[in-house]
Amino acid sequence: MSRSTNLIWHDSEVSKEQRQLRNNHQSVVIWFTGLSGSGKSTISVALEKILHEMHIQSYRLDGDNVRHGLNSNLGFSPEDRKENIRRIGEVGKLMIDAGLITLTAFISPYQEDRDYVRSILEEKEFIEVHIKCSLKECEARDPKGLYQKARAGEIKEFTGINAPYEEPTEPEIVINTEEQSLEESVDIILSYLRENSYI
Ligand code: ADX
Repeated sequence: MSRSTNLIWHDSEVSKEQRQLRNNHQSVVIWFTGLSGSGKSTISVALEKILHEMHIQSYRLDGDNVRHGLNSNLGFSPEDRKENIRRIGEVGKLMIDAGLITLTAFISPYQEDRDYVRSILEEKEFIEVHIKCSLKECEARDPKGLYQKARAGEIKEFTGINAPYEEPTEPEIVINTEEQSLEESVDIILSYLRENSYI
């Protein structure tokens, strides 16, 4: 709900469709969700590189990066995570309007918050990608040493340890990083984009 009143939308003379036409591809948010250490960032970085090489206008938003700037005032309570995801959803919506393919890599543990982002976008503008990886494996990888800290009680509300992760109920794509290589994972998404005429 907006707290401001007396706002009047000012239309642009360049439409989303015109931008997409010029770019020669659709704009969409590819929403990666999964536990910390599951591979969201790694896959999104690799995909972004390939899309760029294919002359596709793309941009990546990543939890750890965005929390340094735009969302630096947010922590990890359910309310703050909700606001984190809401803002990223709004940024994604702007980027769709700008004609970009946006890759977002946030744990985004709550189905309701992901569904909210889907709800503010048009049909087919939200591709939910579940980066599936068991907690056991994420904990074994522990690339940032955070699971160890969480187990030691040094981090409160750590996803998977003492905060929930709700698996997507109807994701467009599921990638299991315990079984699929990085290359295969990127290919699965590229194929989806091609088969559904995004690119
Ligand atoms: S989300 O739940 O709000 O979507 P987000 O993806 O932005 O999370 O940030 C997750 C990253 O923050 C993790 O990869 C990890 O590096 C770091 N982090 C720090 N504290 C926590 C915590 N309590 N739970 C999860 N991740 C945390």
